[in-house]
Amino acid sequence: MKLAQWLKSNDISAREFAARVKTTEATVSRLRNGRAQPSMELAQKIMTATGGAVTPNDFLDFSPSGQTGEDRLTGSRILLIIAGGIAAYKSLDLIRRLRERGANIRVILTRAGQEFVTPLSVGAIAGSAPYTDLFDTHTEFDVGHIRLARDSGAIVVAPATADLLAKMANGHASDLATAVILATNSPILLAPAMNPSMWAHAATQRNVSQLAADGLSVVGPNEGQMAEANEAGVGRMAEVPEIIAAVEGLLDPHGVKPLAGKHMIVTSGPTHEPIDPVRYIANRSSGKQGHAIAEAAARAGARVTLVSGPVQIPDPPGVDAVHVESAQEMLAAVQSALPADVGIFTAAVADWRTENQATQKMKKKNGIEEMSLSLVQNPDILKTISNAAERPEFVIGFAAETEKVIDSAKTKRRNKGCDWIVANDVGHARGVMGGEVNAVHLVTEREVEDWPEMTKDEVAERLIARLGDHLAQNKASA
Ligand SMILES: Cc1cc2nc3c(=O)[nH]c(=O)nc-3n(C[C@H](O)[C@H](O)[C@H](O)COP(=O)(O)O)c2cc1C
Repeated sequence: MKLAQWLKSNDISAREFAARVKTTEATVSRLRNGRAQPSMELAQKIMTATGGAVTPNDFLDFSPSGQTGEDRLTGSRILLIIAGGIAAYKSLDLIRRLRERGANIRVILTRAGQEFVTPLSVGAIAGSAPYTDLFDTHTEFDVGHIRLARDSGAIVVAPATADLLAKMANGHASDLATAVILATNSPILLAPAMNPSMWAHAATQRNVSQLAADGLSVVGPNEGQMAEANEAGVGRMAEVPEIIAAVEGLLDPHGVKPLAGKHMIVTSGPTHEPIDPVRYIANRSSGKQGHAIAEAAARAGARVTLVSGPVQIPDPPGVDAVHVESAQEMLAAVQSALPADVGIFTAAVADWRTENQATQKMKKKNGIEEMSLSLVQNPDILKTISNAAERPEFVIGFAAETEKVIDSAKTKRRNKGCDWIVANDVGHARGVMGGEVNAVHLVTEREVEDWPEMTKDEVAERLIARLGDHLAQNKASA
């Protein structure tokens, strides 16, 4: 744990170091304890802040189970498929790092992949020539592609291009990579990498959801700068340490995912309550927190149904997304997704809707200065589901408050009949709604935990880890 040693010998607290590298204290604590991995950007900031004493490679020994990565990768047989994306150059480092950790690597380089990295450089780093052709007489005399498919403990596709994802989702076998993928029974990990518009496209999202539903694992893509000038967004391939951690998870038969076998319903985003065909009542919720929770739950092994109001962000990989507009539609979608083991109700559901929605656009009338809307209460989704005959075993609600945050949350927990409430102050000054960070209080039956400010992804990760521990304890004491 090089970071822990460095902080100790330089007598620097996690809080002070977090300020230096512009992250949260919680992140530094998790990195220090080996319970998380930094993004490459953060790893580089840490390298600068420690004068080169802690390098990105020092985080490669990250291992949530306490086992070293080497233990889990030694002797493993990994087939890496490199497709035709700019991120293919990172796959050379991936090969090197996997081999350093004792894995045997074989590589398939697609035709387009060869435009980005050469078979010669891949072969030199992998220790054997890459496979490139389905109809190769040297390797196919004994139907070599079936052998490749069967002989590999895991298949990693990095970068996974939009084109390859589309072929895989539709069961193509038109080249060596797709034929092997179709013929294998081994676990498959995808590391998508592409331009943000390609990633956000409905077709790509559909394909990734299909592949996740088929049981494939997905790591990334991350948000950040693209190789193209002035292009940024979600689409960067996951960094090499993240891919390695995901491969370890894939290969580790003992690393049981904490929410495996659970069905979880997560609601997210705002609702839109129509006034007339062009106007609606809405709120500032972006869906970032709910989507992050859905993604973290899927990573923890749950089958996730995400019921989302109208948002501008893509569906997270690996979840079944249902898109709705109004509170009534959201309740109906949640009810039809039941039964579930866990419900997390993150959506900012409008309390009120218009009593009557005009069928035509409402027009101004000469001489009439005022106008009023008659509102009626919307169904209370959290309360309805918490008291339903088919109530999930565990229900978590979110309470967005602007005053007396904790008191209101405690009352809400009792009144609604849910198990936990995650309370946050969404007053304007804090910029929580729509923003990237959140400072929440977890209100349980027994206590109130004040969590420090952290990113919404970190809140999601911590909530899901806390939930996994709680369900495991309940099971053990049952
Ligand atoms: C310069 C250049 C960069 C490209 N980068 C990507 C990329 O990052 N991600 C992607 O999905 N496709 C990218 N493409 C398009 C793919 O190379 C193309 O769809 C190809 O057919 C993929 O084939 P494969 O999936 O069999 O490797 C790029 C194309 C070019 C010319």
